Amino acid sequence: MKTRDRLRIAMQKSGRLTEPALELLTRCGLTFRQSRDKLFCFGEGEPVDLLLVRDDDIPGLIAQGVCDLGIVGRNVLSEFQLTAGHELAPLSELRPLGFGRCRLSIAVPQELDYHAPQQLEGRRIATSYPGLLGEWLRTHAVNAGVVILAGSVEIAPKLGTADAICDLVQSGGTLVANQLREAEVLLESEAVLAGPLTLPVDERGDMLELLLKRLDGVIQVRESRLLLLQTSRHTLEAVTRLLPGGPQPTLLSVAGQPDQLMLQALCAGEVSWRQLEEIKKAGAREMYVLPVEKMLA
Ligand code: PRP
Ligand code: ZN
Repeated sequence: MKTRDRLRIAMQKSGRLTEPALELLTRCGLTFRQSRDKLFCFGEGEPVDLLLVRDDDIPGLIAQGVCDLGIVGRNVLSEFQLTAGHELAPLSELRPLGFGRCRLSIAVPQELDYHAPQQLEGRRIATSYPGLLGEWLRTHAVNAGVVILAGSVEIAPKLGTADAICDLVQSGGTLVANQLREAEVLLESEAVLAGPLTLPVDERGDMLELLLKRLDGVIQVRESRLLLLQTSRHTLEAVTRLLPGGPQPTLLSVAGQPDQLMLQALCAGEVSWRQLEEIKKAGAREMYVLPVEKMLA
């Protein structure tokens, strides 16, 4: 097979991860020209193209080398790693992406008074995740029947084809609507960047490394704030002690005011009014909280 010189990223064609994944890639400076069939999107600025597919197909496409990277739920990636044939290349989770949070849980009928895994002994559990469920059952030494369904797992107990289910839960709305309740959490999931265990060592590898650096920058600044304030030297210590976590602040002198300092600090998360008021009480003034747009370490 002729090696590609452009990087190819697989992502969900339409679903919960589609919009936030595209937004993330845009923030990394990638723009795409959408083709007519909308399956393949050509990257305009950088040599990075998109393949829009079913989420369950993403790990396989990476393992076969059709794509270099994928944006996919940890649930799909983990299931693939547990069930894929050994002839396929192993994959790794390169980065957690902080969106599409949900969990893979076992849910039981609301009327069942669930308190221990042993209550599932001999029961039938419907799921689209036989790998992850099987692993959990083994770990807890429970023998249960696994009923594999491709979708609409939540109606299986009502139909009488299963006694419990193992499915994704986000808001919990689907469970409530089907008179089920969450009994066990098997996996905390979110969208991740998936890739091969060993990265290519050619132009694609270079592009991939560049993309990872941009991604780290975007993820890091997504919630970061830059805090600017003025303080006198003798209140500096009290002010510094109150700063929200982050790297050491930068200090600048103020022209013509030898006693004054300008302090600049990158804060890992939001800075609340309450925090600002406390810092002000300690002696700070002229305080600004700025969103951070880009960051390159
Ligand atoms: C998942 C899952 C549940 C639902 C849970 O399906 O299979 O049906 O979301 O979400 P909730 O707790 O907010 O109700 P999804 O909509 O992702 O579609 P899919 O099953 O076709 O992947
Ligand atoms: Zn799905």
